[in-house]
Parts: sequence; C-alpha cells; structure tokens
Amino acid sequence: MMTDDLAALRQEAEAALAGAQDLRALDAVRVAVLGKSGSLSGLLKGLGAVPADQRKERGAALNRLKGEVEALLETRKAALEAAALEARLKAERLDVSLPPRPFAPGTAAEGGIHPISRTIEELTAIFGSMGFRVVEGPDIEGDWYNFGALNIPDHHPARQDHDTFYMPGTDAAGQRLVLRTQTSPLQIRTMLGEQPPIRIIAPGRTYRADHDATHSPMFHQVEGLVIDRGITLGHLKGCLTDFLRAFFGISDLPVRFRSSYFPFTEPSMEVDIGWNKKTGELGGGGDWLEILGSGMVHPKVLANCGLDPREWQGFAFGMGIERITMLKHGMPDLRPFYESDLRWLRHWAADPLAPASLHEGI
Ligand code: DAH
Repeated sequence: MMTDDLAALRQEAEAALAGAQDLRALDAVRVAVLGKSGSLSGLLKGLGAVPADQRKERGAALNRLKGEVEALLETRKAALEAAALEARLKAERLDVSLPPRPFAPGTAAEGGIHPISRTIEELTAIFGSMGFRVVEGPDIEGDWYNFGALNIPDHHPARQDHDTFYMPGTDAAGQRLVLRTQTSPLQIRTMLGEQPPIRIIAPGRTYRADHDATHSPMFHQVEGLVIDRGITLGHLKGCLTDFLRAFFGISDLPVRFRSSYFPFTEPSMEVDIGWNKKTGELGGGGDWLEILGSGMVHPKVLANCGLDPREWQGFAFGMGIERITMLKHGMPDLRPFYESDLRWLRHWAADPLAPASLHEGI
C-alpha cells in the first residue's frame, strides 16, 4: 500500500510532467522530484527517522515510486522529442526541384567537368535507365583476368595486338601482372563475384603502348555485360542501338552490326554508325564508322567463371570513351585530353551544376 504522502507525491509529479511543454520544463520537473533536494530524495533521506518496523516497507514503496517517476519522465521525454522533430520537419522545407543558383557575375565558375568524366556520367545515366549498375576494378591486373579467362591463351595474336605494358612481379596467385589493356577483365571479376542475372557497365582507364593523334598509352573504355537466361542477339542489338541513339542524340541514327572476331565472344560483331565521311557529320551521309566491339559471351568464358553455358547466356560490349567523346563533340585530336591546357579545358568542360540526366537530354 502506498501511504498517503506518496500517493500525493505521485499525483503531483504526474501533473507536473503532463504540464511540461518542452524538454527544459521536463528537466525542471526531474530536478524538483529526483534531484538532490527534490521531494522524493527528501523522503528517501528521511527514511532513517521512520520507526524500524515500518522502514523496510516504506523504503520499498519509495523505491518503487522512484522507478515509476523515472519511467514517466522517459515516456514524456520521448513524446516531447517526437513533437519537436515533427515541428521542425513542418517548419524546415527544402525544395529539391529548385534549379541551383547561377554563379554571381564576375565570380566565374572555376570548376568544370572534364569531357571524359562527362561522357562517363552520360553513359551511366543511359545504361542506368536500362537497369545497368557501374562496377570498377584494378588498373593493374593479373594476366589471367586480362587475357586467359577471356579465352586469349598464351601466344594468341591478340596479346601482341594489345601492346601490353607488363609489370614486374606476380600477383598472389602467381599470375604475371599487366596494366589492363581493356576493361573486359571486369566481365570475369563480375561473373566470379556474383550470381546472374548480371547487368553491369565498367568504365575505366586502360593502357597500351601506343601514341599518336588518336591513340594514347592511357585511355578509357567502358565495358558492358548482361548475363541471364534466354538472352539473344536481339537483346544485344536493341540495347546498343538504343544506347547509341541516346548518346549521340540522334533518334534515327543508322546502326549496323557487322560480323567480326573477338576471342571472348561468339558470334562477335563490330558496330558501325552512319555518318558523312566528307563533313564528319553523324547520322545520314551513307558512310559507316566503326564505334564498338560486341558479341554473345563465349561459352568458354562463361565456363571459366563457373557458369553453365546451357543455363546462362549473355552479351558483352566494349568501346573507347575518348573516341565516342571526340565523335560526339567533333574534337579532332586525342592528345589535349590529358595536357591540362586550361584553354582547352574551359572550352570543352561541362557545367558541374547540370549533371547528365535523361530528362534534360544527354
Ligand atoms: N575488349 C575489346 C577491345 O579492347 C573490346 C570488346 C569487344 C569488348 C567485344 C567486348 C566485346 O566486351 O564483346 O578491343
């Protein structure tokens, strides 16, 4: 049984708690009841004066009351915090659809997006809308990832074509190290690392010992890979046609699939787009320009990654990022991409405040 003074104290505390309208008022109630000279603490201190036969019972009652008041305090605190958050959410509104403010006049934007980065953003937006995810891998690869697993055995002529930079030493598995000559090793890494269905693109740096107006020892490629059940050449053609038309912004861009050879695809196809050779204009004109390599993933490559080719099929593609960037913008020379010439950079840089998005046109 709670003695009368305790019952009264409890009522008082309850009323004070209900009346506390903010966390500060709530704390004042806590101090008044449970603080050093609070009402409940006073009663606890007075326990010594209670006759011995009642002391135990009274002590237990006081402790129970203390626990109850503490619980009530917590509940009220949670309610006040929730109300405060609610009020803040109502008061603080952020309109994420507002366009960014332009730079003030006279304070020219110092930063710009490099055309390579811009193209990667655009690729990501277009393939992203088709359900592709971006993956990355190391620039220094094991020989097996860059060649062997892709069905390019030792002494295969493709190894010479790539003018590979070999690195000293070997990786943990004893493989010779190379600067990756293509982004295709990401096909292998992805298939080894996850189960299909797979839909990835892998943009990144690649390296070949080659240097002239259209070749640089370091350049960029983007790889694409789709693995699922029942994937056909039709999917490859539809996907790449849609991509090329979106990227170049020409809805009726002629696209041609021409049979070719890559060790890691069967059948393999090179993809050409229509252009006018004389004027350099993309679209009509009756001439064809090779743009990228593609094909149905070779059964041996699937098997090298532990996938049963009778169950899983897919297609892959790879293209040069500098090349499609130069074509899209009519840039004549590859070399300035890496020369850090501010005049070139200012001329070709993309606006950092207007990221690539399908809504506004790529
Ligand atoms: N890796 C090839 C190259 O660097 C490009 C390529 C061709 C990638 C066909 C592919 C593909 O995924 O299917 O020349």
